[in-house]
Amino acid sequence: MKLNIAVLPGDGIGPEIMKQALKVTEAICSKFKHEFNYKEAIVGANAIDATGDPYPAQTHELCMQSDAILFGAIGDPKYDNDPNAKVRPEQGLLRMRKQLGLYGNIRPVMTFPSLLHKSPLRADLVDGADFVCIRELTGGIYFGSPQGRSEDGNTAYDTSVYTREEIERVLHLAYKFAGQRRKKVTVVDKANVIATSRLWRQIAQEIAPQYPDIETDYLFVDNAAMRIIQWPKSFDVMVTENLFGDILTDEASVITGSMGLLPSASMGVHTSLFEPIHGSYPQAAGKDIANPVAMILSVALMFEYAFNLTDEGALIREAVNASLEEGVVTEDIADGGTVYKMSEVGDWITDYIKNR
Ligand code: IPM
Ligand code: MG
Repeated sequence: MKLNIAVLPGDGIGPEIMKQALKVTEAICSKFKHEFNYKEAIVGANAIDATGDPYPAQTHELCMQSDAILFGAIGDPKYDNDPNAKVRPEQGLLRMRKQLGLYGNIRPVMTFPSLLHKSPLRADLVDGADFVCIRELTGGIYFGSPQGRSEDGNTAYDTSVYTREEIERVLHLAYKFAGQRRKKVTVVDKANVIATSRLWRQIAQEIAPQYPDIETDYLFVDNAAMRIIQWPKSFDVMVTENLFGDILTDEASVITGSMGLLPSASMGVHTSLFEPIHGSYPQAAGKDIANPVAMILSVALMFEYAFNLTDEGALIREAVNASLEEGVVTEDIADGGTVYKMSEVGDWITDYIKNR
């Protein structure tokens, strides 16, 4: 198979973790005889520095031409502390999602046995938790207009808008995932209060009967937030709107104690994008100390979701698990044992794949 990949390292530790991801991708492609072509482009704070635009037109064109996108992270502290900055890296991220039509953000929440003691929850609650959060990514209050301030500056407003089409496509995506898993979809909304949520629930109730072998249940978002920590094993596929999904996916990702290890995928109309869920971690940039595993597992998701190459994805997972079991890990999870550099972990995982 021919893989044309857009590579967007971004800011902070992005470029370093991307190097590890590319080593792994190359090793997989030579083992399974795929042709791997990639081109790099800028995005985020470094793109603002270079061009004034966090998501330049050339970057968008490259993404549109590629079969999939590997994305590192964006963000720079100099923007976080300046509420008046006119251009921000995050705007680039939102425009990228919108322009590429990346409507479904998928975050698998899984546990790693060797890291259960890192969970803020009791190990028996999280051991075996394995679910997928699907967050609608291009609609709702993030993108609704009007958004802004009154003339005197003392009143502000945002607008949440959802159309039938936006809700239907992400619900179908959720059922598709559930069909390949434990066959349960939990629709999360706030239909007791807000109008967009009532449309979500109405459409979900229309769609559910089209999937008779899949169980559907409905939760209000406040209740869902509670259930995630009380009974994480009760979920299989959770689907929700953009803002609720932003909040719940952060909550869900930390309960396994392995936030630094979790990948994500954004499925779209034109292409799909794969990125670790951790941010740009500027304090560690350039030090070769950050954990490359989430980025490497994002490559596994790319093989699986963008190309349907499941053996390739499985071998990457096997290599990552082996590195964790062997204790070839970065400082964040070394727990008093030997600390390896990011590049050493990347090399170890790459060699494992080559020698398999
Ligand atoms: C995420 C992030 C972004 C979001 C920020 C950086 C704009 O929190 O991907 O979850 O809110 O979508
Ligand atoms: Mg977020």
